[in-house]
Amino acid sequence: MKVLGIETSCDETAVAILEIDTSGLRVLSNLINSQVKIHSQYGGVVPEVAARQHSHNLIPLLEHALAATKLEIGDIDIIAATQGPGLAGSLMVGLETAKTLAWSHNLPLIPINHLLGHLWSWLLPTPEKRESINFDFPFLSLIVSGGHTELVLVKSFKDHEILGQTLDDAAGEAFDKVAKVLNLGYPGGPVIAERADLGDASRFELPRPMIDSNNFSFSFSGLKTAVLYSWWDLKKTEQDINDMAASFQKAVIDVLLYKTKLALKKYPVSLVTISGGVSANLSLRQHLSDEFEKDKVKVAVPQLVYTGDNAAMIALAGYFEWLNTKSKKIADKHLALSIKPNLKLKAKS
Ligand code: KG4
Ligand code: ZN
Repeated sequence: MKVLGIETSCDETAVAILEIDTSGLRVLSNLINSQVKIHSQYGGVVPEVAARQHSHNLIPLLEHALAATKLEIGDIDIIAATQGPGLAGSLMVGLETAKTLAWSHNLPLIPINHLLGHLWSWLLPTPEKRESINFDFPFLSLIVSGGHTELVLVKSFKDHEILGQTLDDAAGEAFDKVAKVLNLGYPGGPVIAERADLGDASRFELPRPMIDSNNFSFSFSGLKTAVLYSWWDLKKTEQDINDMAASFQKAVIDVLLYKTKLALKKYPVSLVTISGGVSANLSLRQHLSDEFEKDKVKVAVPQLVYTGDNAAMIALAGYFEWLNTKSKKIADKHLALSIKPNLKLKAKS
């Protein structure tokens, strides 16, 4: 079957088409129109600007995806669109467009939790390559993005137990805020990672928040404040920037690693997945793989194109939802759907 995915929860307008059945999956098209350049001049995402950009870009992107795959909307079997969490105006553009398409072409529409998209993104193959879908439940999923930091025990397609999440800033948000302190621009993740490669991670002693809490909660706002205090007294040379970036990145990785290890101790599964924008961080990937794979726990990460926001992951989550929703009535309910900016993952649905 062919699944059309639409993602507009934040500052990426994205459209994807998957060809998928129970034996395998192929990404026929994965288009992402990033607004990063526009928002970087304001130092972060401006919601009103993001929504306008989505409405400007979404239809041309849809046309492009169909033309590039030589498909017509009539060839699509289901549509999956992000319902939340995210920015209200941005979500509205994607979901209302999806509703209109579904209504006018009599197609089922599956509303998707953006976090579920990230949760499944590690399964997506390189565009054009067909791959089988092969894994076992339960597994541990660490979702680290600009808006979220969640450790989830995935027991089935419909049962996701959130073991812990951030009490304040998300991991990606901390990267973005620290980059602001170091005057490195937005988004912070990629540039901090680049600087960290050149720095000495042991130069600044930064806290590892909540590492002794014996639960799976995270907190990153104190870490950002600690960076700010250490930064004031420095000359702010290039080496200072590199060393601070390295020390900060190491502190985040230590916490993520420690909490995931703690979760593995309590729930000894054989697969850990890391996804979301921060999972693009190569040092994070390396540390987690080194730590867990020596104990025969497989670490799976998305290909770099699928770490940030994309619609292929939404289409995949939509397919799983479709496959596992007993009553296929979702199809008939699409006109009543509305956005859910504060949508959470559910333990059982
Ligand atoms: O998943 P995503 O694209 O959007 C949300 O759903 O939030 O994640 C964006 C976040 C940003 O905070 C960005 O700074 C961070 O991912 N990020 C990284 C890296 N690349 C992007 N953080 C650390 N290292 C990276 N290489
Ligand atoms: Zn995201």
